[in-house]
Amino acid sequence: MEMEKEHRSSHPRLVLVPLPFQGHINPMLQLGSILHSKGFSITVLHTAFNSPIPSNYPEFGFVSIPDNLSEQLISADDLLPFISLLNLNCGVPFQECLAKMVQKQEVENEPSIACIVYDECMYFCDAVAKYVKLPSIVLRTTSASTYLSRNAILQLKAEGVLNSQGTSTNIQGAVAYLISALESLFNIFYLGSTSQDLVPGLHPLRFKDLPVSKIGTPEIFLQFITNIYKTRTSSAIIWNTNDVLEQPSLQEIQKQCEVGIFPVGPLHEVAPASSSLIKEDNSCITWLEKQKQNTVLYVSLGSVASVDKKELGEMAWGLANSKQPFLWVIRPGSVDDQEWKKLLTEGFVEAVGENGCIVKWAPQKEVLAHGAVRGFWTHCGWNSTLESISKGVPMICKPCFGDQRVNGRHVSQVWRIGIQLENMCERGEVERAIKRLMVDKEGKEMRQRAKNLKERIQLDIREGGSSYNYLNKLIELIMSF
Ligand code: UDX
Repeated sequence: MEMEKEHRSSHPRLVLVPLPFQGHINPMLQLGSILHSKGFSITVLHTAFNSPIPSNYPEFGFVSIPDNLSEQLISADDLLPFISLLNLNCGVPFQECLAKMVQKQEVENEPSIACIVYDECMYFCDAVAKYVKLPSIVLRTTSASTYLSRNAILQLKAEGVLNSQGTSTNIQGAVAYLISALESLFNIFYLGSTSQDLVPGLHPLRFKDLPVSKIGTPEIFLQFITNIYKTRTSSAIIWNTNDVLEQPSLQEIQKQCEVGIFPVGPLHEVAPASSSLIKEDNSCITWLEKQKQNTVLYVSLGSVASVDKKELGEMAWGLANSKQPFLWVIRPGSVDDQEWKKLLTEGFVEAVGENGCIVKWAPQKEVLAHGAVRGFWTHCGWNSTLESISKGVPMICKPCFGDQRVNGRHVSQVWRIGIQLENMCERGEVERAIKRLMVDKEGKEMRQRAKNLKERIQLDIREGGSSYNYLNKLIELIMSF
């Protein structure tokens, strides 16, 4: 257990526990910055795997806890078993670490720990907090609609159990049925015959948009949802969303939830500091400076998603054939190296010339705020979606897995600020989507709606706005512990 930075202050301390992935570290550290600006001391308890960079947050304390993850598992793409293992491995070291912190605060008269704020996927924190008699709060980093749609999967299955087996008390039979029903649900999504039917009560989601995971078995997936959404002893839920975007979903959730919900997002708008795990390549900003205002398509699929060999070529030639300037983030490991080299020898770079810029990782929020950027081709991770909306940038949505499909559907059908690429992308379809967004009247209308949404969000985070008010209520709650 390594104490990387000592932090002293007279204000109460908050212990933050992020899930060690970029899309989860960002909102947790942004929340930490906001709460620090309100007077709290912040200590981040993090795993050795993907540990955050303390120098980006000199005002925080950082404590590394051993995660006991083998290299073999870390390199595996199996996210759900990985999260489950993380929860199994981290409980004991986390508890020991907290006990030391409490001891130290008593001996050295340090600020006392007011509460533990943990990512919903680090659910082991709940039991530890209870054990050490500290209050805890959950941070949800995906959309409220994702929560409702994951719940709907559980409900669909539960209803299936009732319909076919009546009020059977045979729990094992019910669980087996649930699993086989989920398997058939998986088949709808992944054996090609996708269902276009709308899910009852979840407009505008179709069955194919439900955020199931294609990785692991249905049992693991079902267990994952149950674990992250189980009502435990936490005192509240902080949500990185807001009323402007998701009020009906949030109201529905609040009805079902015993504790208060605090939709204080988008967090990055209030706390802009970087928490990037990969070095940002600022040369793309220099390239953007040379482009005409409002002309560039920014392309990035976030920190986890990858594209297969065929898709890479289709994306590349769709971009080249559209003749629109583009800035493309190709994260190391997200594309097949051989295929990429092949593309280069096939003349892709020559075809694009100065019209394209490719980097390994970009300062995304700066890029989206840049006047040269006109559109964003995104995988619709929740952070990217929020970052694009709050800068008024319309999107081409190419969801890859999980919650991204829910977000993409909301971008294209609810907020109507984007075009969704359905199924496997093909260069002609890509070229048409780019032109629709960047050139056509349809894209202009989306841009206008995106600008309106941006303005409403800006108002919402200022004094009198709902996010602003929820933040104050959250602080009152923490101070009452
Ligand atoms: C993961 C899941 O994949 C996503 O579905 C879920 O909603 C959140 O957790 P990720 O795929 O990385 O996240 O996507 P996203 O939520 O968009 O987060 C990516 C973050 O990386 C964003 O904050 C973005 O600004 C940042 N980023 C991305 C960069 O800083 N530079 C880049 O070049 C690309």
